[in-house]
Amino acid sequence: MFDHLKNDIAVALEKDPAAKSKLEVLLTYSGVKALAYYRVAHALHKRKFRLLARIVSQSAKRKTGIEIHPGAKIGDRVFIDHGAGVVIGETTEIGDNVTIYQGVTLGGTGKDVGKRHPTIGSNVMISAGAKVLGPVVIGDYVKVGAGSVVLKDVPPHSTIVGVPGRIVRQYGEKVNDLDQKLPDPILEEFARLNNRIIALEEKLGVHACKYSISNEIIENISNNNSKKD
Ligand SMILES: CC(C)(COP(=O)(O)OP(=O)(O)OC[C@H]1O[C@@H](n2cnc3c(N)ncnc32)[C@H](O)[C@@H]1OP(=O)(O)O)[C@@H](O)C(=O)NCCC(=O)NCCS
Repeated sequence: MFDHLKNDIAVALEKDPAAKSKLEVLLTYSGVKALAYYRVAHALHKRKFRLLARIVSQSAKRKTGIEIHPGAKIGDRVFIDHGAGVVIGETTEIGDNVTIYQGVTLGGTGKDVGKRHPTIGSNVMISAGAKVLGPVVIGDYVKVGAGSVVLKDVPPHSTIVGVPGRIVRQYGEKVNDLDQKLPDPILEEFARLNNRIIALEEKLGVHACKYSISNEIIENISNNNSKKD
């Protein structure tokens, strides 16, 4: 138990540039305190002292503003920064070297039974106010942006932001999600008409029309339409 505490203090000193000494972290870091309480509560929970475990975890919540269910499984080198308003549900699993900021919820959607909370990989950062809901799997090295709501699995090495969460980076590269392009039926119709005019003009050997839709757009739409046909 003391080894864990020593480790948690070392991790806080390493990850938070504002942390100046071991004593300061021990006395003032609510995330470190909450994890210390959690380890006691989790040990009681595993030995089936469920009520006692809940009493310990609720006492930690009153003192730190961080609520970790005793049944949650939390790895090593986890750091909860600032901490206020963090909620970690009963069937949550968290890997190693994970940073969690204030206001994060690792919770359920209310629709699942049994395993109903997220599984978080290792080396993950979950930014301030992010909500990860349901039995989703967050891969290793994922960054969840501040204020995001994540409802689906996230592959490793991704950055996910927004509500609902969408992947904006993978392996450091920006992601252009083509599915987010909406169809434009009017533009498509104009492109079809332009195509017919071009064909007629070619037959007549004239070029009288100035196209308002660029040839590139016409080509893209024609290609898409021929794929659909
Ligand atoms: C997600 C985050 C970690 C950045 O990750 P990253 O992989 O470096 O991603 P980028 O900064 O390159 O951003 C990628 C895109 O997502 C957008 N984005 C980043 N964070 C976002 C957020 N929280 N919400 C919405 N969009 C966001 C960026 O504007 C960018 O959009 P663009 O491609 O149109 O320019 C960071 O933006 C973040 O949310 N940090 C919060 C950390 C925190 O909680 N601090 C609290 C300390 S008290």
